[in-house]
Amino acid sequence: MAVNADYVWMDGEIVPWADARIHVASDALLRGANVFEGERAYWSEPHQQLYMFRHAEHMHRLRQSARVMRMSIPYTDEEITEGCIELLRRNGWRDSVHFRPVVYFGEGEGHAYLPEDIRTGVFVLALHRPSKPTLFTGIRSCVSTWRRNPDAASPSRVKAAANYHNARLAQVEASMNGFGTPIMLNIAGKVSESPGSCFMMVRGGTVITPPVTADILESITRETLIQLMRDELRLTVVERDIDRSELYICDEAWFCGSGHEVQPIIEIDHYPLGDGKPGPIGKAVQSLYFEVVRGQHEQYRHWLTPVYPAAKSAAAE
Ligand SMILES: Cc1ncc(COP(=O)(O)O)c(C=O)c1O
Repeated sequence: MAVNADYVWMDGEIVPWADARIHVASDALLRGANVFEGERAYWSEPHQQLYMFRHAEHMHRLRQSARVMRMSIPYTDEEITEGCIELLRRNGWRDSVHFRPVVYFGEGEGHAYLPEDIRTGVFVLALHRPSKPTLFTGIRSCVSTWRRNPDAASPSRVKAAANYHNARLAQVEASMNGFGTPIMLNIAGKVSESPGSCFMMVRGGTVITPPVTADILESITRETLIQLMRDELRLTVVERDIDRSELYICDEAWFCGSGHEVQPIIEIDHYPLGDGKPGPIGKAVQSLYFEVVRGQHEQYRHWLTPVYPAAKSAAAE
C-alpha cells in the first residue's frame, strides 16, 4: 500500500504514521467492528486553499452509523473536525486528499457486549488520492453474482467496515473477470449500488437512481448530484427501483461517491451504452461537480470547510 501521509490523528492526538497502532485483540480487527466515513478534500489553486467537501454531512452520517451499531463516539463532532483539519494541515497537502474518520471498538472478548463495556476509539487516516484517469475514459461494468447485503441482515445504510466484505467479494470477482467496478443487485433483484459508490443512469433524458431503500449507502455525493442536476442543470431526476434489463437499454450511466467521484460507465455486461463513450449528461454532471468541490460556485461554498488558516486563502477574496 502506498503510504504518503506523515501523520495520523488518533484519539485526540497527532501521531507519526508508524506509531498509529491498535492491539491485535481489538474487536475492530477480530470482527470488523468499526464505522467510518470516506471524505475528500480538494485543493483550489486560485483560492490557495484545501477544502473538505460536505464534512458536516459526513459527521452526521458517522453518528447515524454509530447509533445503529450502538457505538458511543467518545468525541464531539467539533473535536473530530478539528482533528481532521489539524491532520490535513500537518501533512501539508495541496492536492486531492482522501481522509477517513474511523470509530472502532477496542480490546474485548465475546461480541454481545454493551457499548459501555468496551473501549471505543477514533482515528483519522488521510492519503493523497488523485482522480483516476478512467473518470475521462469510462469503465466497463458488469452485474455481480453477489447481492448487496440487505437491511434485514447487515444494513448497507450503515457505513461499517464489516459491510465491505460483501463489497470486496463483488469487486474481486469483477476484477478477475476483466471488468471495472460492478453493479450489485439487492435481494429483491433490483439495482442497488456498486461496492463503493452509488449508481445513476439516463433513459430518454431522465436521470434515474435507486431509492435509499434499495439497500444502498445514503450517499452524500448522490444527494449532492441530485440537487445540482435539478437546480443547476434543470434535469428531471427520478428515484425509483431499476430492473436489471434497464441497464442494457439505458443511454448513459455512472457511479458516484466521494472516493469514486463521478465515474462514467461505457459498457455493462458487454452491452455498450450510447456510443460507447462517456455520455454528455454524465460529462456535464461531472464537470459541475468538480467545479463545486473546488469552490468555483459561490452558492455552494457552505459545503466547503477550509483547512488552512485564512491568510493562506487571501487570494480567494
Ligand atoms: C457502498 C458505498 N456506496 C456508496 C458510496 C458513496 O457514498 P458517498 O457519496 O457518501 O461517498 C460509498 C462511498 O463511500 C460506498 O462505500
